[in-house]
Amino acid sequence: MQKKSNQFLFVKYRRFPLVLLSMLLCVFILIKCINGTEEKKEVTAVTGFNDYAGSAKCAGCHKTIYESHLQTAHALTAQQANKKSIMGSFEKGKNSYAYTPDIVLSMEKRDSGFFQVAYLRGEEKKAMRFDMVIGSGVMGQSFLNWRKNKLYQLPITYFTAANKWSNSPGFPSGKVLIDRPITSRCLECHATYAEGIAGTAMEPSEFDHNRMMLGVTCEKCHGPAAKHVEFQTLHPQEKTAKYIVNPSSLSRQLQLDVCTVCHGGNIEKTKPSFQFTAGKNLADYFKIDTASIDVANNGNVDVHGNQYGLLKASKCFQLSKMTCNTCHNTHENQRNQAALFSQKCMSCHNTTAATFKTPAHNEVIAIDKNCIDCHMPAQPSKAIAVNIEGEEFPRASLIRTHFISIYPDATKKFKALKKGTAQ
Ligand code: HEC
Ligand code: HEC
Ligand code: HEC
Ligand code: HEC
Ligand code: HEC
Ligand code: HEC
Ligand code: HEC
Repeated sequence: MQKKSNQFLFVKYRRFPLVLLSMLLCVFILIKCINGTEEKKEVTAVTGFNDYAGSAKCAGCHKTIYESHLQTAHALTAQQANKKSIMGSFEKGKNSYAYTPDIVLSMEKRDSGFFQVAYLRGEEKKAMRFDMVIGSGVMGQSFLNWRKNKLYQLPITYFTAANKWSNSPGFPSGKVLIDRPITSRCLECHATYAEGIAGTAMEPSEFDHNRMMLGVTCEKCHGPAAKHVEFQTLHPQEKTAKYIVNPSSLSRQLQLDVCTVCHGGNIEKTKPSFQFTAGKNLADYFKIDTASIDVANNGNVDVHGNQYGLLKASKCFQLSKMTCNTCHNTHENQRNQAALFSQKCMSCHNTTAATFKTPAHNEVIAIDKNCIDCHMPAQPSKAIAVNIEGEEFPRASLIRTHFISIYPDATKKFKALKKGTAQ
């Protein structure tokens, strides 16, 4: 009896090969065959957990940066699950997702933590704990569950734009999928370091709970810093740093590489991902997808995760020396500051020049406050789209394109909104 009803309720991961192909939010990134060949052993000393100091150590000497970085999406992109880090509601009436009238998943706080609980006609069938949160919640959050040293994705995701629990992207719609494993790839972009203890060096399948650094923290962009901390602590008089990477002193390409490892879309690793650290040449660790330029030019722009490819296709990038840091200060949360980013545009584009007086520009009042809604419009993500209870079509998150260009539709929309005639 029990068995029969469970068959009705749950679905086995292996029965859904298609699900495998549409792995979660960052779908395309994960569509890759795992190379069956044996990993070559690294000849040079490999980077390990002990080479890292942890961000808390930086606070003592770089307090301002440390504190502002804590407020960024990077710092918050992977956390231990708790009341504060989980964004969705556990309140009755707001805490469930019905797959069918009979199959309901309910988000519940219990003595030993927060759980996703599957019910069949009101009878509890399985409770799965929220152990880890992936996503700062700008767009949404996915939740992971530890089973021994393996990580699984929970069936329900939180979708910020609707402020609702939703079916996780790529999960089946009528039944509960409870055993989708998390590949190391998620952690490679949402964590600074995670030590594999089983599987291959390239694709670890199990992780050491105690040798993980969640979130994109200082040492992801500055390299492992245990030696820097030790040296500066022992030599407090020393006012120059020896054992740390400052991206601003790297070549343009190496500066871009620091970000492209996670913002380069569908790049394929050729060595274990955590062996790439700031200051190294990314092309020695990954095959970088150059097709993105054609993608952008064909207007078939996939705005998920490939800010590097899109930017690279833009004239601004090609005819200047810009890097990501020309516009972004990643030590701070700079979300929704159109005027601040427009200042960056105007550091190269002079709004008083005769060439700037185009028909579209002439119609805009206070143009210096917002260049981006017309030239870098937010577009629906093809990868971050979820099913919301009661809605027929999946809802997509909006992501800013980094293909800086002229978008007639965005211009029309911008003008309509400014005149108050939209919607
Ligand atoms: C004991 C004090 C101390 C600690 C702890 C410390 N630093 Fe530093 N750091 C310094 C000093 C001193 C400098 C050199 C002066 C400066 O640039 O501020 C420096 C410089 C830097 C620079 C700039 C290097 C350059 O060449 O311009 C970076 C980046 C940096 N530290 C990162 C970190 C990170 C990341 C951590 C934590 C893992 C950390 N530091 C912990 C003292 C410290
Ligand atoms: C190649 C790097 C990469 C991989 C691999 C990756 N992500 Fe992401 N993820 C990103 C980036 C970058 C963003 C920010 C949105 C964007 O630019 O598309 C993001 C956004 C997200 C968000 C939304 C966060 C927010 O802003 O609220 C969630 C949730 C998420 N990812 C979960 C996952 C999960 C689960 C996996 C593993 C299946 C995964 N990601 C794999 C890079 C990656
Ligand atoms: C997403 C990448 C990223 C992260 C995360 C990051 N930094 Fe930086 N950091 C940079 C870049 C890029 C620069 C160079 C900025 C520039 O162009 O001058 C920099 C510069 C610095 C400098 C040099 C002086 C200065 O004020 O610019 C220090 C010190 C520093 N970072 C410390 C830290 C500490 C401490 C943390 C963690 C609390 C941290 N960084 C997190 C990317 C990052
Ligand atoms: C280890 C992977 C990783 C690296 C390295 C990295 N990022 Fe990110 N970045 C992410 C992920 C994941 C997100 C999505 C965070 C979220 O909302 O959960 C993100 C988000 C962002 C955002 C959006 C912030 C917001 O408030 O929504 C910006 C801007 C950004 N990254 C710029 C950079 C730049 C510039 C660099 C290089 C200096 C860089 N990133 C390096 C993984 C990375
Ligand atoms: C580091 C300098 C630099 C920055 C910063 C910069 N641009 Fe550009 N941009 C250029 C150059 C150089 C060109 C090519 C020559 C020209 O058209 O002026 C260009 C071209 C353009 C074009 C014409 C594109 C085309 O395909 O014809 C637009 C539109 C544009 N930029 C908008 C922006 C906006 C909006 C920003 C801010 C988000 C920005 N730029 C930031 C340097 C820059
Ligand atoms: C010419 C300026 C400019 C450059 C250069 C630039 N960005 Fe951005 N980026 C922006 C603007 C503007 C936004 C939108 C900020 C907002 O609305 O909060 C943005 C947003 C983002 C986001 C969040 C996307 C979203 O919609 O949630 C990420 C991630 C990001 N940038 C990464 C990068 C990376 C990585 C690079 C380098 C490859 C880069 N950016 C270079 C201007 C720039
Ligand atoms: C209302 C939408 C809108 C806004 C706001 C806007 N632009 Fe434009 N921009 C356009 C359009 C459309 C064109 C193409 C020419 C036309 O139709 O007027 C253009 C053209 C350009 C060009 C190429 C000009 C050339 O030489 O051909 C640049 C560079 C540019 N914009 C930069 C900016 C900057 C910088 C800002 C902010 C200070 C800005 N734009 C604000 C819509 C906009």
